[in-house]
Amino acid sequence: MAEPKYYCITSGKGGVGKTCLAVNLAFALAHQGRRVLLVDGDLGLANVDVLLDLEVGVTIWDILDRGIEPEAALISVHPRLDVLPASSGVPEMANLGSNDQGLLQEMLRGLATPYQYVILDTAAGLGSAVLWFNSISDLSLVVTTTDPTALTDAYALIKVLTQSHHGCCFEVVLNGVQDDKEARATFETLAAAAHRFLGLNLELLGAVPDDPAVKKAVRKQMPFLQSAPQSKAAQAVIKLADRLQGLSFPETGPTSTPGLRGQSLGHKASDTNLI
Ligand SMILES: Nc1ncnc2c1ncn2[C@@H]1O[C@H](COP(=O)(O)OP(=O)(O)OP(=O)(O)O)[C@@H](O)[C@H]1O
Ligand SMILES: [Mg+2]
Repeated sequence: MAEPKYYCITSGKGGVGKTCLAVNLAFALAHQGRRVLLVDGDLGLANVDVLLDLEVGVTIWDILDRGIEPEAALISVHPRLDVLPASSGVPEMANLGSNDQGLLQEMLRGLATPYQYVILDTAAGLGSAVLWFNSISDLSLVVTTTDPTALTDAYALIKVLTQSHHGCCFEVVLNGVQDDKEARATFETLAAAAHRFLGLNLELLGAVPDDPAVKKAVRKQMPFLQSAPQSKAAQAVIKLADRLQGLSFPETGPTSTPGLRGQSLGHKASDTNLI
């Protein structure tokens, strides 16, 4: 069986829609016949369980701290989609030490075998757990809105991931856009900065519109893919899932290939105030 692909849903700024996208992307892939493991990687402030109205028993923290069997934590939410939940209000989990990183990686490797995709929803920011989840992924999906602060923070995250050798490959997802023109223009700003200062050629995986169906689904604690499958947001996420399945990867794994990190052009000019 082929190794599962790890996709990390990540952002610099908080509240840009990572968890909504991770949950709905996981459902879209499952609807398209793929076996998916959705991991709540927001280890200290878990939200996947809230968006899906799940009753959580065992969490990642229980597995690491109390040695509970990882399989006991899995919650099936669709015939082809399982959730590995995290805990909320456990601050020490936000800064995952190297010992726990090793344990978690080992645990994920074992758990992920039957799946084709592992979707990792991270916390926002530059915490050690966020950087680590990105480092073990085949692809980082950097989520941003068109808000200049979100864009600046997306650039900062990409920069840190690139320079600290924590990142491999990036795709950008614009969330909450008015239309494709706005998404493209916003992406071009980010891509130009990443090319000029980091030597990266970013790709825009897709854009999800600002859609009231998303907020309604959050209130109902359901994926919008199920509560409003015809909504613009649901259609956009289905397109994202199609594109993810069409991506091709280098032969070697993310930790052994320099990937885009190798293309740094250095820092001849200052990259402050670039967005
Ligand atoms: N495309 C969208 N259209 C309308 N509202 C949206 C959209 N995406 C997200 N939202 C709103 O933004 C809120 C925050 O989304 P979400 O919790 O997924 O963000 P996050 O990036 O995971 O936040 P955090 O950084 O705190 O984990 C949602 O509760 C929803 O109301
Ligand atoms: Mg979240």
